[in-house]
Amino acid sequence: MSSALLDIHLTEHDADAALRADARAGLTANPKQLPPKWFYDARGSELFEQITGLPEYYPTRTERALLERSVDEIAVASGADTLVELGSGSSAKTRVLLDAFARAGTLRQYVPQDVSESALRLAMDALAVEYPDLELHGVVGDFTKHLDRLPRGRRRMVAFLGGTIGNLVPAERAAFLTQLRSVLQPGEQLLLGTGLVIDEKVLVAAYDDEAGVTAEFNRNVLHVLNRELDADFAPEAFTHVAVWDVEHEWIEMRLRAQRAMTVHVRGLDLTVEFAAGEEMRTEISAKFRPGGVRGWLEATGFEFTRSWTDPDARFALTLATAV
Ligand code: SAH
Ligand code: TRP
Repeated sequence: MSSALLDIHLTEHDADAALRADARAGLTANPKQLPPKWFYDARGSELFEQITGLPEYYPTRTERALLERSVDEIAVASGADTLVELGSGSSAKTRVLLDAFARAGTLRQYVPQDVSESALRLAMDALAVEYPDLELHGVVGDFTKHLDRLPRGRRRMVAFLGGTIGNLVPAERAAFLTQLRSVLQPGEQLLLGTGLVIDEKVLVAAYDDEAGVTAEFNRNVLHVLNRELDADFAPEAFTHVAVWDVEHEWIEMRLRAQRAMTVHVRGLDLTVEFAAGEEMRTEISAKFRPGGVRGWLEATGFEFTRSWTDPDARFALTLATAV
């Protein structure tokens, strides 16, 4: 029999308070910015799923192929009884891991964690049918805040896939890894998926697709602010911009105001002015160098175990162990 639990660590009330704080800070900053987690309401999560199937968006299929080649080694090396996944979304690629763990015979429990309750519920409903013998314990939470509330296992492997760690700025990334290490027992593992630095044209196209799905996804954050904070952004008056920042080695996603605009965020009692051409940062997606990943894992209390890279060196999976 399958059993499914869902812990809500981010109630509507918490999410509302966090969104208010983030929106007020970000819209009054210079330059303006918004944190990426607010992209992912039900529509945002659905748009992201569409992005993963776009011809330009190589990360998902590259990481999937890499997982397919290496999962049996990962599952056997791991011996985990609990797979925790941060930012699990639809858990689509995770099925490759779950199947390998089923072959290895050690896994009892899967713990998907995501800020998007709608994405998590959809994923769990499907997984409960597909994996009837697996205990499912979903967690609605923020991986930058709620790692200490993850359920324990006897031996856990924490997967953080999709290159999502690249959405954290370096200081947030270091804080995240330090916190993650502090909630793990020695011997527990981290499986990290990271995009690598590659040709700029390929990178930029992945974040600025021909069909405009990524542009719609980017603008979705404005729809979220309109709905949740009673704001009056005109999303179609903002252009999606994706640029490669050579110095920081990250893609930066921005929304550019096509004309001067005055936006009222009534829920915050805030009026925000945009100049014509003004850009607001909505997301970064950092790409890494293989030695770099190893270095920052070792600096935060993990031991490098092994890594795998696709033939075009676009993506890496790194297995590390908490020491
Ligand atoms: N792991 C999936 C999805 C990646 S997209 C894949 O590889 O395809 C990033 C995911 O992280 C989304 O599902 C989003 O809802 C979630 N997310 C973004 N910020 C988060 C945060 N701060 N805490 C928890 N989940 C977050
Ligand atoms: N984690 C994904 C990435 O960095 C998120 C993502 C993909 C994204 N495309 C995007 C975020 C476009 C904002 C805009 O690849």
